[in-house]
Amino acid sequence: MTTAVDFNPLSPEFQQQPYPLYKQARDETPVRFIEALNAWGIFRYEDCAYTFKHPELFSARDFIANAFGEFDPVPEVPSIIAMDPPEHTRLRKLANVAFTPKVIRGMQDRIEKVIGDLLDEAQQKDEFDFVSDFAAYVPVSVTAEILGVDAVLGRGDFKRWTMDLIKAPSRTALPADELAQMKRSVEELRAYFTDQIAYRRKNPGNDLISALVHAEEENQSLTETEILSLVALIQFGGSETPSHLIGTSMWELFQQPGTRARAQADPALFSEVVDETMRHQSPVHFVFQTATQDIAMHGETIPADSLVFSFIGSANRDERVFENPDTFDIDRPGKNKHLGFARGAHYCIGDMLGKLMCGSAVRQALQRMPALHPVEPDMEWMPSFWIRGPKELRVAP
Ligand code: HEM
Repeated sequence: MTTAVDFNPLSPEFQQQPYPLYKQARDETPVRFIEALNAWGIFRYEDCAYTFKHPELFSARDFIANAFGEFDPVPEVPSIIAMDPPEHTRLRKLANVAFTPKVIRGMQDRIEKVIGDLLDEAQQKDEFDFVSDFAAYVPVSVTAEILGVDAVLGRGDFKRWTMDLIKAPSRTALPADELAQMKRSVEELRAYFTDQIAYRRKNPGNDLISALVHAEEENQSLTETEILSLVALIQFGGSETPSHLIGTSMWELFQQPGTRARAQADPALFSEVVDETMRHQSPVHFVFQTATQDIAMHGETIPADSLVFSFIGSANRDERVFENPDTFDIDRPGKNKHLGFARGAHYCIGDMLGKLMCGSAVRQALQRMPALHPVEPDMEWMPSFWIRGPKELRVAP
């Protein structure tokens, strides 16, 4: 068995700069055991794509147990993200109804306005943190809108719950007081959505929770706990990742004055910027899977029941698929082949919504503040090996 003492995703150095180690892994040990995580890592594009297409070998069944452990907000039922076809298919079809292109296009004006209002506030200051004063609030406000809950709550409690849940994969390394705070957040989140579901049952509106409650009554197919689980995941999935995509897209433009000038002159290019950021600095760096049987790959055997991480953050820099993968290039052919939203059954349900809000956030920020610039030349990434985005990005108009 290959050991990997030098490959430790829990180390701060790795979290700041994982790409050289990813490259080494792709070239030398494309499938390897990672001691620090007690898990197997898969690093090449084709191999990661293969795992997504073969849930019978690489099951999602332990996703929540691995990601959240005892911090799973709804442990009684499997989450959609931890189901394999065919069970997954039933739930996904119901949830898809809330994310069709027509529904998302219908939200466009509202999204523009939410983002404009947030910029009104941030712009008041001579200098502000693009991440915590702006980007962090965009998705929570939009998700609150989809779920039909109070937008102010979205900005306060939603954000706190999400920030606490995101620490769960590193739970073995966290101090007791932080773990206690995370537990409180999970309980609050659960209690809040339980109440919301009960309220929407009596007072249906034009929102996702009402739609799910309605689907349950029509088909007798979704239980109360299944709805709770779905809503909790959408709150988490939808609240966190887009804020990192916004912060990182802006950082990429700060590094690329030529691309920035082109996008400022032709706003249609902002969606290309977001797409290339999805590839170059994927907000999600891996997905959790479980080997359903012994699996032979690249001379290694992943034993049945092992935890497997498919590193999409590495796959998206694979030189076997992307020419000069470390270069940010909005003109690169096939940049949308990236695996940033995964593939197959669990392909992100919120891809269109996420890209829409991110493109709008970066475009509107630069339209209002054309000379926006970073205050510091360097930027620190947030301390995570799962989710990637700037920890802080101080800017001045
Ligand atoms: C824009 C940034 C986003 C990124 C980078 C992202 C990334 C991902 C990835 C990689 C997966 C697959 C996970 C797996 O295979 O285990 C996924 C699934 C999912 N995402 Fe996203 N996501 C984003 C935005 C959103 C938004 C805005 C929402 C909802 C409002 C959302 C909701 C979900 C849900 C519910 C799933 C599970 C789908 C299923 O299991 O069938 N995501 N996302």
